[in-house]
Amino acid sequence: MPYALTQASRSEALRLCLLCTVPNLAQGPVIRRPLAVRLAAAVDSNAWACRSLDRLREKYGPGPVLVTLLWRKGLVLLSAEDVHRVLGGTGAAFTAANKEKVAALSHFEPNGVLITADGAREGRRRFNEAALDHPAAEHRFQDAFLAAITEEARPLRAYGDLTWKKFHEVYQRIVRRVVFGDTARSDERITELRDKLRADGNWFMLHRRRHRLREELFVRSRRYLDLPEPGGLARAVRATPATPATAGTDPVAQMQHWFFAFDAAPIGAYLALGLLARHPRQAARARTDHAYLKACVLESQRLWPTSLAILRDTTEETRWPGGRTVPAGTAVIFYSSYFHRDARHLPYADRFEPEIWLDGRADADWTIAPFSRGPAECPGRNIVLFTSATLLAELLGRDWRVTSSHRLGPDRLLPRTVDHTSLRLAADSRPVSG
Ligand code: HEM
Repeated sequence: MPYALTQASRSEALRLCLLCTVPNLAQGPVIRRPLAVRLAAAVDSNAWACRSLDRLREKYGPGPVLVTLLWRKGLVLLSAEDVHRVLGGTGAAFTAANKEKVAALSHFEPNGVLITADGAREGRRRFNEAALDHPAAEHRFQDAFLAAITEEARPLRAYGDLTWKKFHEVYQRIVRRVVFGDTARSDERITELRDKLRADGNWFMLHRRRHRLREELFVRSRRYLDLPEPGGLARAVRATPATPATAGTDPVAQMQHWFFAFDAAPIGAYLALGLLARHPRQAARARTDHAYLKACVLESQRLWPTSLAILRDTTEETRWPGGRTVPAGTAVIFYSSYFHRDARHLPYADRFEPEIWLDGRADADWTIAPFSRGPAECPGRNIVLFTSATLLAELLGRDWRVTSSHRLGPDRLLPRTVDHTSLRLAADSRPVSG
């Protein structure tokens, strides 16, 4: 049944802004601000955001709600049907190159496919799929990635305790090796440049463009691509033939997206390790079943999606079932962390249940979309899952305990907001048998 569109009142718009938009903007949409993440987790800000969306749905029903904040109109999705319609209609009635996203990401990847609205999008998408071997389960250079990940995991395996800082440092080296090749292993400057520009992106158009920094980032990236024998995904870029269909691709800009997007992976992986430390039955299976371990990583991304919301803009005046129209350029907001925890539809909403990723329940439901869905679905998903699961497999040779105050166990509902930066783990000295 089609659901009608309604308009939120001013006070409802203000409430949504305070409970949903402000905490997410404060935490940093492009690069996380640790203090804000800590504060948000302390008050479980996402639980408040979910409650305010629940109230809208109770009052208006499951149709989308139009919210006007100052000069910007945004359509908040509240039903699975609308999520399917919008994500599935990306590239036609809805563009992934939403105004805010373009403002944030163009600080470091001005020609990235995700923020390409014009005719170049198709070629760029095709190029990304070719270089990332999407949708194949295994990338052609997976063996080289495996060697890099296993080597980098060594220090982590030796630590008696684990902090986010240690875990993230190791993952950063892995990301540089997977994206640019082994020679980039110690190139901390390239990560520093990326992160400075991401910090600018947190301010959207309010921060001035730092062209010199971006130029330095691009020159450094190109150097890895121009090596006689490039490694990592740079090797796949070199092997991807330029065809008329991929003209205007700007491979270095595409690589910036990979380099940036990869930084969400350690958050999901580290939280998955925390969950496994508190779920011994699932940990026992994850030790021997790689597909299950990947499902654990996906489940961590469902519980705490690192892409806080998926945004689209309408490309034309769009008529909604029920007769109302919204003008071209209206933002459309799929707040995934709301749908991922919708206890009305998901009996497992606030629990760790990796099985949903193996038995078809998650795949069948478009509202569960940590890597998005439809024509702009993440083509790096399988590389991320492989990288994180391979690293975790190295660590799961030992038993881990959560030593910080995080509530990640099966005894209570999982919090809607979590602070990965203060999660601490300790390894039992005895090795796990088997
Ligand atoms: C945990 C890590 C990651 C997560 C959670 C993630 C999630 C997502 C999401 C939600 C989107 C869609 C955004 C939208 O529709 O607005 C997306 C797009 C994309 N991702 Fe990822 N991603 C991750 C890592 C990666 C990596 C490592 C790569 C490349 C190696 C990658 C490549 C891409 C590309 C190229 C797009 C744009 C697709 C398009 O516009 O057609 N992602 N990702």
